[in-house]
Amino acid sequence: MSQSVLILGATSAIARASAHAFAARGYRVYCAGRDMEELRRIAADLEIRHGTEVKYGRFDAEATDGHRAFLDGVTEEMGGLDGLLLAFGHLGDQVAARDFSAGAAVIARNFTGAASILGHAADYFESRGRGFIIGISSVAGDRGRQSNYVYGAAKGALSLYLQGLRNRLFPKGVRVITVKPGFVDTAMTFGMPGLFLVASPHYVAERIAGALDKGGDVLYLPWFWRYIMLIIVHIPETVFKRLKL
Ligand SMILES: NC(=O)c1ccc[n+]([C@@H]2O[C@H](COP(=O)([O-])OP(=O)(O)OC[C@H]3O[C@@H](n4cnc5c(N)ncnc54)[C@H](OP(=O)(O)O)[C@@H]3O)[C@@H](O)[C@H]2O)c1
Repeated sequence: MSQSVLILGATSAIARASAHAFAARGYRVYCAGRDMEELRRIAADLEIRHGTEVKYGRFDAEATDGHRAFLDGVTEEMGGLDGLLLAFGHLGDQVAARDFSAGAAVIARNFTGAASILGHAADYFESRGRGFIIGISSVAGDRGRQSNYVYGAAKGALSLYLQGLRNRLFPKGVRVITVKPGFVDTAMTFGMPGLFLVASPHYVAERIAGALDKGGDVLYLPWFWRYIMLIIVHIPETVFKRLKL
């Protein structure tokens, strides 16, 4: 049987493009998210274009109590899983920095929910002794900035979590890849001022699916963000705190 991948947050623009990239490589795909009608459309489109098996189901990152049963259901329905792409996220706005309930939603959608489902997935792949986990974090998690430090903190926590998971699962034969996109042209960034070097979801998705054919643990997308962030993280704090970023 061909390989299978579970995509969490499958209605996201990057996830949709990634689902096509995986399906084009022969993967069977399970699309999970909150909007069942949109998932049905995505699944039908994937099946028509790629002639591959596509299933879909409801997944809410914040409903952590149901995550174990959700994953058990998916593995049963798919006859086992070979990998997972974690794509859900929520940018929020700077209200999140002053209103804790808005901030908590950003943290839950980018980190707490991710830690919950990844914990179950890690146990599953570890017990099989193979598989892959690809988590979409962000360059925003590399250094705190006044314009989006709640989102940045949540993504920074996700990057650290994935790093720890990689350290745990590497000896067990399970690959963990952290993806750190810069700006991508999606609903998340629509209308945002000051965007530069914006990548397309298709560009990002091709590199995500293609990462499994190469080495590498942390994937900056496009590649030059690795060097931009290298410079940014090395600006001394005494200078950085005076910058308007
Ligand atoms: N766009 C960028 O510039 C950029 C840069 C760096 C990193 N990223 C990351 O890339 C990933 C994909 O983002 P995107 O740009 O493609 O954004 P998007 O199109 O806005 O997608 C966000 C996705 O997250 C899902 N989601 C939000 N809360 C959820 C919850 N509680 N449970 C389940 N799903 C939930 C949304 O589902 P609904 O349809 O149900 O709302 C949607 O599918 C995110 O993790 C984002 O943080 C994006």
